[in-house]
Amino acid sequence: MDEQSTNDAALLSLLERARQAAGNAYAPYSGFRVGAALRLVGGGVVTGCNVENMSYGLTICAERSALVSAVSQFGPEIRIEAAAVANLNQAASPPCGACRQVLAEFILPDAPVIFPAGDGARVMAFRELLPMAFELKGN
Ligand code: THU
Repeated sequence: MDEQSTNDAALLSLLERARQAAGNAYAPYSGFRVGAALRLVGGGVVTGCNVENMSYGLTICAERSALVSAVSQFGPEIRIEAAAVANLNQAASPPCGACRQVLAEFILPDAPVIFPAGDGARVMAFRELLPMAFELKGN
């Protein structure tokens, strides 16, 4: 799958879940409110939002918030089959590089990731978003 828009109803509804989750964001420093929704193999959906801190570097992004919640609730065997990211700022917001690396641990390489782009929602397969994730080899 390459970069494209979508009319996939299930993905659009995941995007809506991400948008709703953005309503819970704690973003007093940037004002940028982000939500993420992860659909797990087996069908459950887990959401998260960004939680900022006045020591800015301690901020957690929406995607990692959702991922940590998913593992906390369902354990380390979870696999993500689709992901959505949304914001309430009418801005393009693909997942940041750090979140891509963290998602790589649990997401299926072909999983679609839907996020707002300049001209509406875009969908990319995870493997296209992060073609060369860091891997710990030889330990
Ligand atoms: N943010 C996310 O939640 N996800 C991303 O992928 C990128 C950025 C948040 C972090 C911070 O609270 C705000 O957006 C501005 O960077």
